[in-house]
Amino acid sequence: MTDDQETSDSEDTAASGSATLPPHLRPQSERLQCHKSSVCSRSYFVVVMVFFHVYIINVIALLFYVHYISGQDDASPSRDAPSSDHRHQQPQQQQQQQRTESRRPPSKAEFLRDVSLTRIEGIRVGHVQTVSLVPGKVHEMRTLSLKPLLFEIPGFLSDDECRVVMQLAQLKGLMESQLMVQDGQEELDKELNLSPEEIFNLLDINQDGQLQLREILTHSRVRDGIWLTPENLREIYAGLKADKDGNGLLSLEEFRLLSNDAFQRFLLQRGVKRSQLVRNSRHTWLYQGRGAHQVLQDIKTRVTRLTRLPSTLVDLSEPLQVVRYEEGGHYHAHHDSGPVYPETACTHTRLAANTSTPFETSCRYITVLFYLNSVEGGGETAFPVADNRTYDEVSLIQNDVDLLDTRRNCDKSNLRVKPTKGTAVFWYNYLSDGRGWVGEQDEYALHGGCVVTHGTKWVANKWINIDPDYQRQARYQRLVSRQPEEEEDDEGLALNSDLQSSDIHQDL
Ligand code: OGA
Ligand code: CA
Ligand code: FE2
Repeated sequence: MTDDQETSDSEDTAASGSATLPPHLRPQSERLQCHKSSVCSRSYFVVVMVFFHVYIINVIALLFYVHYISGQDDASPSRDAPSSDHRHQQPQQQQQQQRTESRRPPSKAEFLRDVSLTRIEGIRVGHVQTVSLVPGKVHEMRTLSLKPLLFEIPGFLSDDECRVVMQLAQLKGLMESQLMVQDGQEELDKELNLSPEEIFNLLDINQDGQLQLREILTHSRVRDGIWLTPENLREIYAGLKADKDGNGLLSLEEFRLLSNDAFQRFLLQRGVKRSQLVRNSRHTWLYQGRGAHQVLQDIKTRVTRLTRLPSTLVDLSEPLQVVRYEEGGHYHAHHDSGPVYPETACTHTRLAANTSTPFETSCRYITVLFYLNSVEGGGETAFPVADNRTYDEVSLIQNDVDLLDTRRNCDKSNLRVKPTKGTAVFWYNYLSDGRGWVGEQDEYALHGGCVVTHGTKWVANKWINIDPDYQRQARYQRLVSRQPEEEEDDEGLALNSDLQSSDIHQDL
């Protein structure tokens, strides 16, 4: 092959003009002629080769330059902007003027200079580090798992603080965390007017032409918030005579014979108990900004110190959620935060998003979970796949063992945290993107509340909201901090963050 090429190359060159070839490479007949011509001299050849190389280097340099320039222009609307982009950096005195000008989006490097996302190192499971959260006291922070990155801090809240938070929540009133029936679903079904084949195709996640139990179970949980067990489903199949060949799978033919809302009607007839929902608890939200109870403000400050994140991010996050589980209460395994898709917008930055996206999810970079009381029986927080070496989504729901089911299978979870009054646990729901910003959702952050077997369980959640799209986060932060700048009144920020929070939680 190489030999062939060499031969044909030299032939080409000879045909188009032999001046660029060294004499020893030329055909014998030509070599003889060349001796007479100065054009064939060695120095002439060297000069030509030098020009040729300079030309090639110039072309390569030009290509690199064009690539670099277009890369930078593309990078500004993307969250993958190179972190070494310093083109837009401005001296401090120009910043004020620039803010009132074009309001161009900051580069990632520029944004990260102000808002750096520290990630606490876990080192190894069982590692203990001391942290200074309140003056004159040190707390111990123990690493519980690396996947997800999860820590436990005993005594994070004092007994008094736990009591105040529970009392404030009671004073405000708690509401059911999950409503029994989801409205609007039927209308949506009618509006879309999908054929049985189309619905079958949507449900058949692994596209094997059969509906496995887990495909139906997952769908029912997401769509109706009803937590069916494999046995429940077999019961429904039997009641509706759906699985004619009794192999536990639904073929397209079997599926076609079912009417559109057969499952829903069957469930409604039989009645759904609260214990059959994804979540069985009550909750409320407590605002933590200016004017809030001192205990709530202190907790926020402590969370900021614990997570080592900029206080603006914590200030602009959701209020404190206080949850109460009665005996028999539970919360099946779930993610606090949604996955990152380009078409998904975060609830907290929705107002600042340029486009209206059809999908919206909570973007909770960190969850800090506080235990407000010690539970008499059950109620552990379970992490079914924490530090699992062989985690694979399909294995979460096996035929009869559903690791997501915290009423039945908490004992099979890789990690369980016992609720102890005053203890805080916290974990990252997202990985890092490796460049100081939020990366992909951490699938290992799956967790749930095991069933409370004795007594009541009180917890509180502090979620720290960060948009994985740093541009949207930046735009949102500029939007909520605009008012104080213009009015020169720093109360505007608190006012705005309150406005934003109540917008997220209309139930506040
Ligand atoms: C939650 C949650 C766990 C627990 O409220 O999102 O996961 O142990 N709670 O209550
Ligand atoms: Ca299938
Ligand atoms: Fe949760």
